[in-house]
Formats: sequence, structure tokens, C-alpha cells
Amino acid sequence: METIDIKTLLAALNWRYATKKFDPSRKIPDATWAALEQALVLSPSSYGLQPWKFLVIENPALREQLKANSWGQAQVTDASHFLVLTAKTDLTEVDVERYVQSIASVRGQKRSDLQGNYDMMVGSLVKGPRHAHIKEWAKRQTYIAFGNLMTSAALLGVDACPMEGIDAAKFDELLGLPATGYITVAACALGYRAGDDKYATYKKVRYPVGEMVEHR
Ligand SMILES: Cc1cc2nc3c(=O)[nH]c(=O)nc-3n(C[C@H](O)[C@H](O)[C@H](O)COP(=O)(O)O)c2cc1C
Repeated sequence: METIDIKTLLAALNWRYATKKFDPSRKIPDATWAALEQALVLSPSSYGLQPWKFLVIENPALREQLKANSWGQAQVTDASHFLVLTAKTDLTEVDVERYVQSIASVRGQKRSDLQGNYDMMVGSLVKGPRHAHIKEWAKRQTYIAFGNLMTSAALLGVDACPMEGIDAAKFDELLGLPATGYITVAACALGYRAGDDKYATYKKVRYPVGEMVEHR
């Protein structure tokens, strides 16, 4: 693997900011967007179960409706791409079986050799006490992909605005999610900053590393 240097990483993380004003005329090239989709899918999740789905909203009329349910935030319609991150509301034996079958097929293993793995996942997340909070668990996993997306975008020079300022229940309704077993977690507008977005000039407000990271 080719690595990037420390300077490049920190420059990208400092360059990234929650973009408020996008240049509506600039579109993310297809290959770059495809890489960002890969970044989402390559995100780690607990056991690797991937309890999420990512919706790329292309329909302009739908984006207008979503904006109306996002406090009118212009990023929803002005950014090149608008993504809704959703999480699975439940996890059953069927989901775990599908995943185990997938491991067997990708890694050329026998399904029977993965029984212990299956039992552990079902015991923990389907039949165990964690099942009571499975929706929250799935949402947490989805946030990992969210973070991965933002860092990846920054490294590719793509601007992003992570968005929780949305009416998630309304999003669910507009996107027809209740019937699918997924719920809206958050959204992300991606594209390129407008030249006059004053937020790009604001200094980062972060507590000192020495205070936030303890060595014990
Ligand atoms: C989960 C999450 C939700 C956010 N929701 C919104 C939002 O709805 N609208 C917005 O303009 N910024 C939103 N932000 C951006 C934050 O305000 C911003 O990341 C924070 O102030 C730090 O600034 P920076 O990202 O520019 O460094 C959100 C950030 C995160 C991580």
C-alpha cells in the first residue's frame, strides 16, 4: 500500500470544514464519487455486519422536499451530491445467516466451519440482551461509515457538510423507509465549497490534544 505522509493527512483534516455554502455549478466527478461509495462500503462495523444503507438522492424535486425538512439548509439542494445514511432497525437470524454465507463464499470456507461464528453473533445481537438496543447499535455503526466518508472526502479534496439538522421521521416518510426496515440516521451534502463561504475562513475550534487525549 502507498501511504500518505503526516503532513498531507493533517492538511486534509484541517482543510475539511462543515461546508455551509456549496458551489452549485461544480459536480463531483463520477470516479471520485464511486471512490466515496467504496469508502462507505469499506467502513468497519461490529462483526462486519454492515447494518446500514446509503441513499444517494438524485431527484431534484425530492431534494427540495428534503431541504424543506432540514431547516431549509441550502446544502441539501446546492451540493453536488446529497446522501442519506440509514440504519437497519432490526437484526435477525436471517441477516446473520446472509452474512455468514457471504463470508463462506468470499473466503472459500465451508458454511459449517462458520457455525461458531454464527452462534456468537446470534447469541450476542439477536437473542442476547443487546438486542433490546439493536436500533441504537445499528445507528452507531452507521456513524462509523459517516466519519469514514468525511475523512475520505477531505483526502480527495471534496467538501462535505455532515447534517443532523434534519427531520429524520419526515425523511423516513419521504423516502418510503418504514416499509424497508431502515431508518434515517443523518445526511451528508458533498461537493465543492463556494468561493465566498465565510465558514471556510473560520479557525478550527478544538480543545487541546493534551486535554482530550490522556496517556495512562
Ligand atoms: C453528526 C453531525 C451533525 C451535524 N449537523 C449539521 C447540520 O445539520 N448543519 C450544519 O450546517 N452543520 C452540521 N454539523 C457540522 C458541525 O457543526 C461542525 O462539524 C462542527 O461545528 C465543527 O466544525 P468543522 O466541521 O467545520 O471543523 C454537524 C456535524 C456532525 C458531526
